[in-house]
Amino acid sequence: MRNKATNSGELRMYNSLKQNRSGGKSYGHFDDETKEYVISRPDTPTPWINYLGEKDYLAMISNTGGGYSFYRDPRQRRVIRYRYNAVPADNGGRALYLRLSDGDFWSPTWQPVRKELQAYECCHGAGYTRIRSVHRGVEAEVTYFVPLGQTLEVWRVTLHNTNDAPLELQVFSLVEFCLWNALDDMTNFQRNYNTGELEVEDGVIYHKTEYRERRNHFAYFACSEPVAGFDTSRDAFLGPYRGFDCPLVVQEGKSNNFVTHGWAPIGSHQIKLTLAPDESHEIIFLLGYAENQQDKKFSAPGVINKSNVKRTIRQYLDPAKADAALEALRKYWDELFSIYSAQTPDKHVNRMVNVWNPYQCTVTFNLSRSASFYESGISRGIGFRDTNQDLLGYIHMLPARARERILDLAATQLPNGGAYHQYDPLTKRGNADVGGGFNDDPQWLVLSVAAYLKETGDYSILDESVVYDNKPGTEQPIYDHLKRALQYTLDRLGPHRLPLIGHADWNDCLNLNCFSATPGESFQTHMDTTAGTTAESVFIAGLFTLAAKEMSAIAECSGHQDDVAYYLSQADQMAQRVMEHGWDGEWFLRAYDHFGTKIGSKECNEGRIFIEPQGICIMAGIGVDNGRAVQALDSVQKHLATEHGIVLNQPAYTRYYLNLGEISSYPPGYKENASVFCHTNPWIMISEAILGRGDRAFDYYMRICPSAREPISNIHRCEPYIYAQTIAGRDAPTFGEAKNSWLTGTAAWNLVAITQWILGVRADHDGLIVDPCIPKEWSGFKVTRRFRGATYVIEVKNPSHVCKGVKQVTVDGKILDGKLLPIFGDNKMHQVSVLLGTKA
Ligand code: BGC
Ligand code: NOJ
Repeated sequence: MRNKATNSGELRMYNSLKQNRSGGKSYGHFDDETKEYVISRPDTPTPWINYLGEKDYLAMISNTGGGYSFYRDPRQRRVIRYRYNAVPADNGGRALYLRLSDGDFWSPTWQPVRKELQAYECCHGAGYTRIRSVHRGVEAEVTYFVPLGQTLEVWRVTLHNTNDAPLELQVFSLVEFCLWNALDDMTNFQRNYNTGELEVEDGVIYHKTEYRERRNHFAYFACSEPVAGFDTSRDAFLGPYRGFDCPLVVQEGKSNNFVTHGWAPIGSHQIKLTLAPDESHEIIFLLGYAENQQDKKFSAPGVINKSNVKRTIRQYLDPAKADAALEALRKYWDELFSIYSAQTPDKHVNRMVNVWNPYQCTVTFNLSRSASFYESGISRGIGFRDTNQDLLGYIHMLPARARERILDLAATQLPNGGAYHQYDPLTKRGNADVGGGFNDDPQWLVLSVAAYLKETGDYSILDESVVYDNKPGTEQPIYDHLKRALQYTLDRLGPHRLPLIGHADWNDCLNLNCFSATPGESFQTHMDTTAGTTAESVFIAGLFTLAAKEMSAIAECSGHQDDVAYYLSQADQMAQRVMEHGWDGEWFLRAYDHFGTKIGSKECNEGRIFIEPQGICIMAGIGVDNGRAVQALDSVQKHLATEHGIVLNQPAYTRYYLNLGEISSYPPGYKENASVFCHTNPWIMISEAILGRGDRAFDYYMRICPSAREPISNIHRCEPYIYAQTIAGRDAPTFGEAKNSWLTGTAAWNLVAITQWILGVRADHDGLIVDPCIPKEWSGFKVTRRFRGATYVIEVKNPSHVCKGVKQVTVDGKILDGKLLPIFGDNKMHQVSVLLGTKA
């Protein structure tokens, strides 16, 4: 579907990649109609997962039914157990087994038994996953989802006998309970093997470890079918020295029916069915989390009060209710996806913009960097810089939740304007172990608030009174929080009057004050005796410039007239300093280290050029008027662009440098040391769009676009429907291989790049800007955007095949002066025609 190649040099790289991309093994395809990704074989290169739940109860589910679930906090409230780094990968947690009377048994989701199936298919959709399989003429379909607003997951199982003869079929369910605190669960066995407690009542298995003391929550595992038996002890279920692939109970077809004490509590139901030829049968399993009021915990000494939860269980075991809940979920997502939708000549853009990219943005918003198949859910709370950036891809969908999150973030800001690097999602308090001192952190708050204001026009958020460091009595309006955020940088300038870097800036691994020679020390928090008073970041200078400009616009729109010029002048002064001390001749410098030595300079042997300052400085407008931006981006293309995306730095560091820290701990081509760190690529796309070079912007977009990389899944290896944090760079032996999928700022920034800068439809304080920068071969495209209470149907035509330049805009038939669409707020639809070209 992609348009014909032009003669522009940069497209050549993409095209040669496209050729290399053919012939790879296929693991599935996009179904654009149903908005699903359909996986056609279970043995994907890595588990290809999905997320269920949209707020409090969240679950991961892999293409073979693996993963785990938790309530709000994956560390403190983990419902089922998960073993990272397990062999074979991704087993345990939850499972289903089917067994015929001759003893043959299998998993309808392939894992954990891994018996070869006659047919297999997994469809990941927004908020649900459906796995279908066939073995011995038994068609099985399992749909997993979390109903909106509920704290439970539904497994809806349909079994169909396609044989000519009746079948005696047994079904065994399995969940392995985590003893709530996931870290304790994997470390403190001398205690944990004694604490496990359960109850079984009417076929429902209740997990109540620690309920007797300080917890008021429990989990339950219910089933719509009368149970023939049950198991609660993992050891009894599996049998000695056996794995999940061959449990004794399933092999023998006989449950143990006892309630265990201590060791490893599980929940397993045994169900016996007889299916006539062509008969189908449906079973619903519910795994849920419930809380009781402190004074109503028990119905009898030691016995959980189940009155509330029984009602919920009854409701969702009803197939009609489960159907309605799934339907409601579909509507919910369709509604969110329809806020910004696009029809372009490129199928990859369409499916990423209309479904998968905003979908990933909701996941990163919910989870920050806490729980994925790469993030263990243990150590990383809600990141300050991460979440403020995640918000950029989320605000247009659920602005009320975004507002709440912004207030939570601001409440963890420190009185000096700095910020805790992370906060705990349960207590919403800053994480003291990691602390603050990541000197870019506060600036991101200015950007997220600016984006919120532009989207909603809700300036009342600026007057919201919010504490500092969660301390009552310190309340100040959000506007003050933003001022302090900017002041934080101004109070911390180094020898060139560029911002001091602190522990690190956006690049967590450029640790210029760390000097760690002891294994195991955290590069992020260890600080040598430097006191951090010399190492400076050009990246923060660019970020500050951008934030100060946003602040000036905020001041203007919110009646803080005095601040308008002040912040503009601060932005100008910082930009000036970047020009003077942050320019290396052909690109922007990265930093000055503790000794005042340049980093990211032609004077360096390794790490001569970095991507981050090129992107952020140009986004801040630095060098746009004097040719330096063009030069910097040409240098990016020359030194950093590869067929698999733009790498972070070149040349990669080949050894450990005490004065640089973690960046040089990674082997060349991985992570912050010269991988394609995907988060940064959209900054270059945006910068190219600012300069009007639509072919390049789009070419960069395609290089890392998951959907466009689908044909090389055997190289890329991660899910082709969502972004991964990194793609191994050209210095790595595994060039092109993605890692750390799902929880990455890449999601938000790519959505911003494609929707706001390439397609060019972006919210501003006083309207909706339309200013596309597209490949010139495109003849046009269409965007439908709901914005501040009206729907804009925008048709862009490009008859003279330019990349950028709005020649004329008409709104509802009338010619508009400029490219800012007015705010209608009238609940109506407005037809916008945009003609690209050069003005006469
Ligand atoms: C990773 C970074 C991450 C940092 C903080 C490092 O090991 O390479 O990407 O930001 O840890 O957790
Ligand atoms: C991942 C972290 O979550 C993010 O905060 C950081 O900016 C990048 N790594 C780069 O180091």
